[in-house]
Amino acid sequence: MAKPTDRDAHYFRAKREGYVARSVYKLIEIDKRFKIFRSGAGVIDLGASPGSWATFASERVGAKGFVTAIDLNPIRARLPANVRCIEADVAAADDEEIRAWGFPVHTVISDMAPKTSGVRFADQARSLELAIAALRVAELTLEIGGNFIVKVFQSADADRFVRDLRAQFRDVKIVKPDASRAASWEVFVVATRFLGQEKRRGEKPQDTE
Ligand SMILES: C[S@@+](CC[C@H](N)C(=O)[O-])C[C@H]1O[C@@H](n2cnc3c(N)ncnc32)[C@H](O)[C@@H]1O
Repeated sequence: MAKPTDRDAHYFRAKREGYVARSVYKLIEIDKRFKIFRSGAGVIDLGASPGSWATFASERVGAKGFVTAIDLNPIRARLPANVRCIEADVAAADDEEIRAWGFPVHTVISDMAPKTSGVRFADQARSLELAIAALRVAELTLEIGGNFIVKVFQSADADRFVRDLRAQFRDVKIVKPDASRAASWEVFVVATRFLGQEKRRGEKPQDTE
């Protein structure tokens, strides 16, 4: 019989531990290392279907905290009572809709991924668009000192995105969790201690006259 791969091992572990997807172990690893979640905190989870990150985040924030789980697709998993699910396109949501997902919140997490086409350049560009949409949510909802975790496919433009984040968060790290396939282009940007709204991306300088 063939030896189980790491992917199989994570799949069976997720089943055993009651998570709907093995991708939860990427978030668990990041949380272990960076202590992302806080009991009683608010969390927005972008690209949340089928629901494993939302389940873990809800366990970590506890009954006094909440998780708003957003996805293009319905989230069918049975989730704890402190998780609210919303079907929406994060990239198309307006400011008012985004703030209604939670404001202020302590953490925004995004595992959003495009449907991959196999054309590397196009997939990288689409992934970066989703990361930028996730950053907009973070800018609109995070409290000062809050955290932002976002998946992005590696590219030169993604490197620039990460560099720009350093103006808005005190610490920014790029992480490739063990649970992420070695062959995958995905990395996670872990941006902690949000500095505030004054350094928004793309904001035009104030007219001083
Ligand atoms: C890798 S899955 C997320 C897995 C999830 N973190 C979990 O652990 O169960 C990526 C998700 O991103 C969602 N997604 C992609 N683009 C989106 C968008 N523009 N708005 C909302 N969700 C999006 C997809 O529908 C898909 O469910």
